[in-house]
Amino acid sequence: MTARIIDGKEVAAKVHEEVTAGVTEFKEQHGAIPGLTVVLVGDDPASLSYVKGKERACEKVGIATETILRDSSITQEELIWIVKRLNTDPAVNGILVQLPLPKHLDEDAVIHAIDPMKDVDGLHPENAGLLMLGQPRFAPATPLGVQRMLVQENVDMNGAQVVIVGRSKLVGMPLTALLLQKGIGANSTVTVCHTGTKNMAAETRRADVLIAAAGFPGAVTADMVKPGAVVIDVGVSRVEDSTRKRGYRLTGDVEFEGALEVASAITPVPGGVGPMTIAMLLVNVLQAAKLAVTNR
Ligand SMILES: NC(=O)c1ccc[n+]([C@@H]2O[C@H](COP(=O)([O-])OP(=O)(O)OC[C@H]3O[C@@H](n4cnc5c(N)ncnc54)[C@H](OP(=O)(O)O)[C@@H]3O)[C@@H](O)[C@H]2O)c1
Repeated sequence: MTARIIDGKEVAAKVHEEVTAGVTEFKEQHGAIPGLTVVLVGDDPASLSYVKGKERACEKVGIATETILRDSSITQEELIWIVKRLNTDPAVNGILVQLPLPKHLDEDAVIHAIDPMKDVDGLHPENAGLLMLGQPRFAPATPLGVQRMLVQENVDMNGAQVVIVGRSKLVGMPLTALLLQKGIGANSTVTVCHTGTKNMAAETRRADVLIAAAGFPGAVTADMVKPGAVVIDVGVSRVEDSTRKRGYRLTGDVEFEGALEVASAITPVPGGVGPMTIAMLLVNVLQAAKLAVTNR
């Protein structure tokens, strides 16, 4: 069996179209443009490239975007002051502090300072709590993107055995909460693996839908995939590659070539979950703008 490759760019393009239409309608109804402000601390090249991708996507769908760049020497107080200023700016509907932050900054304190109604990354405890309670306001964009891809691909999630490798606040945990809910693209039986899992392969081999978010290449090998499973690879790692101009290439968590022969469908890296993450961020920004007008 050779798996179908799920094209994240194609699904993301559909979401972009929907958001573009939503932004146009919002402008007509409210005479305003949804706005996202990204705060980027330091000069990490991967973070810079993610932020540029977000800016480009916002421009494409008509969302106003601004990036506040600060040197990595910024203090906790200065960063929280910036966040609080954005909280009170009516032109800013979404605030995104690009993670990770330099070590001397307290990530949790910064996230907690964001107005939960502008927390388009869905990491504020209020939004994380609402998601766990089955009343999502903003869920993190990557899990939303994974779910949207599965829906778009007509994967029957109702009662499906889903195994997620990784339990992070950004991916594994919120994805678990999303897929456990009743409703379309969810109502699944979810198992979450982590470094404490005793026999991970035994767990993953039961998965109708296997989602890898461990963060290192080879975390999921072909023998860990059940024949016919749908495999979603969230992982993104840079591996040295002298044949590439930039000296590295991006790779996922899944041993792609091997899994391709076992799975029924699989996402590539790059071009799978990545574009969906950005697309669903746009959805969250539009949602934040709508919430801002209804709560005015
Ligand atoms: N494509 C995208 O848009 C996108 C977005 C976000 C993240 N990512 C990528 O997704 C990956 C995961 O990101 P993250 O933020 O969730 O990472 P993270 O915070 O480092 O979490 C990794 C998770 O994987 C688990 N894990 C690590 N090694 C394992 C092993 N050998 N066996 C079982 N579980 C293991 C960890 O378990 P413990 O909890 O026990 O430590 C942890 O829960 C990264 O490659 C990241 O770059 C991609």
